Amino acid sequence: MNFTPDTISAQQMYKLLIGGITPRPIAWVSSISNNGEVNLAPFSFFTVASANPPVLCFNPMYNADAQAKDTLRNIREQGQFVIHSVSAKHLEQMNKTCHNLPFDQDEFDYANIEKIPSTVVKPPRIKSAIVSYECELLQVVDLGDQALSGHLVLGEVKMVHVADDAIDNFRIDSDKLDTIGRMAGADYTLTRDRVTLERS
Ligand SMILES: Cc1cc2nc3c(=O)[nH]c(=O)nc-3n(C[C@H](O)[C@H](O)[C@H](O)COP(=O)(O)O)c2cc1C
Repeated sequence: MNFTPDTISAQQMYKLLIGGITPRPIAWVSSISNNGEVNLAPFSFFTVASANPPVLCFNPMYNADAQAKDTLRNIREQGQFVIHSVSAKHLEQMNKTCHNLPFDQDEFDYANIEKIPSTVVKPPRIKSAIVSYECELLQVVDLGDQALSGHLVLGEVKMVHVADDAIDNFRIDSDKLDTIGRMAGADYTLTRDRVTLERS
């Protein structure tokens, strides 16, 4: 079947994108407002943008009412955020943090996640995360002003935290990290079944 974006709805297009581009890693993003309200939410439109300088990017789209999500609002206000890895042990808690809570309600508390202060940015970080990247905002690339329009957030990594038992000589242990990936709909994939292939 063939589809041209301008003949289908934004929701249908979204389904074609999230169904075809899998698995997606999940950025679990903490941020804070000018008034000190803390926010935590998952985003699977996420990847590395650059290693040197170290830059990560993720995409808080406008919601169904074409409004900015709390994460985007906070990052525009404070210019800082922390991206955490999501391990299989976090699956249920991560899912709770995508709940659409009022702006002033803290998802750390709602999902019973222990927070600790970050080192160089204001938003706190998740104590149990295997890897956390403290980031300073570089740029938001605004891709539209409608429902589901992307607002690509690019942030430079200023501090990396890795759990002591999950790293050896800068190599992060995939078993300890135990990342999950987002598939279409409500499906996730585990990353325990891997293949090793040396470059030829
Ligand atoms: C695994 C997962 C991945 C998600 N990825 C995205 C994403 O890439 N972009 C987005 O706008 N929303 C995404 N969402 C939905 C947001 O997490 C959700 O809208 C959340 O309420 C936003 O929180 P905030 O308003 O506190 O920023 C995702 C949800 C889940 C559960």
